[in-house]
Amino acid sequence: MLLRRSPLAAIAAAAGLALIAPTAAHADTFTPGSSGLGDPYFPHAGNGGYDVTHYDIALRFSPKTRKLSATTTITATAVQGLSRFNLDFSGPKIKKVEVNGKKAAYTRKGQELVVTPASGLPSGEKFTVKVSYAGKPRAINDKVLGKEGWINTKDGAVVLSEPDGARSWFPANDSPADKATFTFTVTTPVGLTVLANGEPKNPGISSVRHGWTTVKWEMKEPMATYLATVAIGKFKVTEGTVGGVLNITAYDPSVAKQSKHLHRTTAKVIAWESKLFGAYPFSSTGGIGDKVNVQYALETQGRPVYDGGPTNDLEIVHELAHQWFGNSVGLRSWKDIWLNEGFASYAEWLYEEQHGGPSAQKTFARLYKNKNEFWQIKTGDPGMKNMFDWDAIYQRGAMTLHALRKKIGDETFFSLLKTWAERNRHATVVTRDFIDLAEEVSGQDLDPLFDAWLYSAKKPAL
Ligand code: ARG
Ligand code: ZN
Repeated sequence: MLLRRSPLAAIAAAAGLALIAPTAAHADTFTPGSSGLGDPYFPHAGNGGYDVTHYDIALRFSPKTRKLSATTTITATAVQGLSRFNLDFSGPKIKKVEVNGKKAAYTRKGQELVVTPASGLPSGEKFTVKVSYAGKPRAINDKVLGKEGWINTKDGAVVLSEPDGARSWFPANDSPADKATFTFTVTTPVGLTVLANGEPKNPGISSVRHGWTTVKWEMKEPMATYLATVAIGKFKVTEGTVGGVLNITAYDPSVAKQSKHLHRTTAKVIAWESKLFGAYPFSSTGGIGDKVNVQYALETQGRPVYDGGPTNDLEIVHELAHQWFGNSVGLRSWKDIWLNEGFASYAEWLYEEQHGGPSAQKTFARLYKNKNEFWQIKTGDPGMKNMFDWDAIYQRGAMTLHALRKKIGDETFFSLLKTWAERNRHATVVTRDFIDLAEEVSGQDLDPLFDAWLYSAKKPAL
């Protein structure tokens, strides 16, 4: 679903590309949907001509054979008359594709799955596409971005897909601009535990047949494809609540030592962040500790995954801050990644400041001393290879917010954080939206500040 204030074209405009205009506007004209959405960092990611509202992902997975058999059913609405359309998919062999219950023709090329339905799909109409596939799913390995997507573990699997790993395990409109709700139906050998985003559906009811057991999870709030996860394996699960929100945490026994405080700290941090950022945006929270061997944590919606278990409380603060900034307030274009990482990192600074650690000012002053190399990359458009650069995105991103706080004052700054989260709840944004809102609430011209902090390749003057 495209929960934005502006139409599809805004995605392309934000990404700096012009959409190929549909040639004729007649209701009976069917043309192919585009194979990308014009994101300059990931030109093949996402597809044009439709808008996904729901993914229903049904999986059967055996950790022993590492074989997955799956059916993903997508509910979408055509936004143009479609003769054919693309999905992003790099997963195992396809057995069948159906559109509206009828067999559809398909071809695969690179990450594109091109689906040609038996008849054209009229603009404005809802349709379903059902893809069945089976085989051994494989992680996507990028030299700079690392390992992402479906990742096999010793006793199961964990999915971590930022930025473009979703296509490794389900056919998707793999753009953060197109959020949708999700249901997961996961069948595994009896004895294993399955976690996913959101909440268990029909909790307590799991069917057992011939040594296999099936559980269902659902994410009722809109979610970007890269934030979808399942975790399969041996887990110790703890359930509780925080401020009326369900809290489900789990860890693999092999990371028990690092994960002992995961449940309690998650509850404590959610309570603290809710005061600072406003109402928690999802119906459940939690966290998952497992040995994934990727050397990063990911803010998978409602339930972040911590590789090796959380290293410290600040990592939990960071991933949970993303629930507001990144997950609920989502990106439309990957170049704005600082809106996720700068905010989550600044949440760490604020947590330290309010829990007996160094003040944000002190952290800022320490980093401000950095020499040339630190300032070379533009925080507001770092390039694909630098999208997770520690200096330019995490630290300079947080510094940008601190510079803003100093300029507009604490009261205005903290009310801005809440207004930003609340006005854009479950929507997607671009950096300009944040600058506009900051100018609105402060009544100041902030372009010079943001130009210096986000769009210059040198150290901003104070
Ligand atoms: N968003 C994650 C964090 O909270 C980092 C993800 C890194 N992804 C990657 N493919 N290396 O910091
Ligand atoms: Zn982060």
